[in-house]
Amino acid sequence: MRCRILRATVSAEAEKAIEEAANILRRGGLVAFPTETVYGLGADARRREAVRRVFAAKGRPGDNPLIVHTADAASALALGRDVADVARELANAFWPGPLSLVLPLGDPSIVPEVTGGLDTIAVRVPDHPVALALLRRFGGPVAAPSANVSGRPSPTDAHHVWEDLGERIDAILDGGPSGVGVESTVVDVSSGSVRILRLGGVTVEALEDVAGSVEVARHVEDGSDGRVLSPGMKYKHYAPTAPLRLVQGTRDDVVRAMAALRDRAKLQGTRPAFFLSRESADALGMNPDDEGVYVYGAFGDDEALAHGLYAGVRALDRSGPSVIYVEASYGSGGLGRTIADRLHRAAEGEALWAHDLLRDGVASPRGANGE
Ligand code: TXA
Ligand code: MG
Repeated sequence: MRCRILRATVSAEAEKAIEEAANILRRGGLVAFPTETVYGLGADARRREAVRRVFAAKGRPGDNPLIVHTADAASALALGRDVADVARELANAFWPGPLSLVLPLGDPSIVPEVTGGLDTIAVRVPDHPVALALLRRFGGPVAAPSANVSGRPSPTDAHHVWEDLGERIDAILDGGPSGVGVESTVVDVSSGSVRILRLGGVTVEALEDVAGSVEVARHVEDGSDGRVLSPGMKYKHYAPTAPLRLVQGTRDDVVRAMAALRDRAKLQGTRPAFFLSRESADALGMNPDDEGVYVYGAFGDDEALAHGLYAGVRALDRSGPSVIYVEASYGSGGLGRTIADRLHRAAEGEALWAHDLLRDGVASPRGANGE
């Protein structure tokens, strides 16, 4: 199959590109498109064959349901039934935006493959001009998971989609890089309470401001899958090919530990990569343009970190490093909590404490070298 790149970054071409993308969806094709969070892989949510092709293209297990995207809140909520007042309040407050609401499934035209056979449906209105134009032009519900191969970091630009799925889909609508950089917050409002199933672009604090008390589902924070509420969360996620290791501690300790890890790698002839704040890169004498170095922005700027997270990890991974060391420099609340969730999953729980590395020496045989 030949995947077409439809450029929507240049205004003169955008309208034609969006029309063409809508036509491909109408014919039952697959179109990747930009959203404010990450790129999605879209298909008409009412066409069984199209939705099946989405699962096949991603290599996604059939029990992991898709989020359905629409152009406005009214059409999104109409896909549910018995929509709770709090769902309407959240929709008013955050749509268009990085929030997905899980509602009791109402619309019988949504094929069961979309919801993985569940009696609920996740819906969202993305905050991106190209996504909204496409959804409006198409005029129907678009099922769209992140446009990556299952288990890989989500794509935040058209090139990432091309890398993962270029051979398997009909077109990529190129709208430039995604702004937020991490996926939407998935919130279950199907049973009276308000429960976060996946942390994301809308923070817990912001949800609490609107909904009052909000529960964070246990599996979200501890990774347990005793009772899987959001099927996607039980799978390994967001991981590059190289092992990823979080390095935690005070900024000084982290810088010193990174320096020691770099020195040891030199002796051993291995090539680690580093994901760093500007301040730490400067302290280490590392240049953002060097291969194996990614600098996301100023230390503690969670928005910049989220924005650069998947793009940075993908860029570092491309150079084939032995390991990717990530400076754990995000806040404990707000978007920092979402970043921590994604990084802990990518690292599969392997966090290194800079203090321990420095005390024990980075050459200690178990765990400390992260390889
Ligand atoms: O930001 C985003 O949400 C992006 C963009 C493209 O919109 N999409 C995205 O989709 O991240 P995906 O498929 O990668 O993740 C969807 C998550 C999964 O964890 C899935 O299990 C959960 O939403 N989900 C979908 N429908 C659900 C439902 N009915 N009940 C519980 N969880 C659901
Ligand atoms: Mg995904």
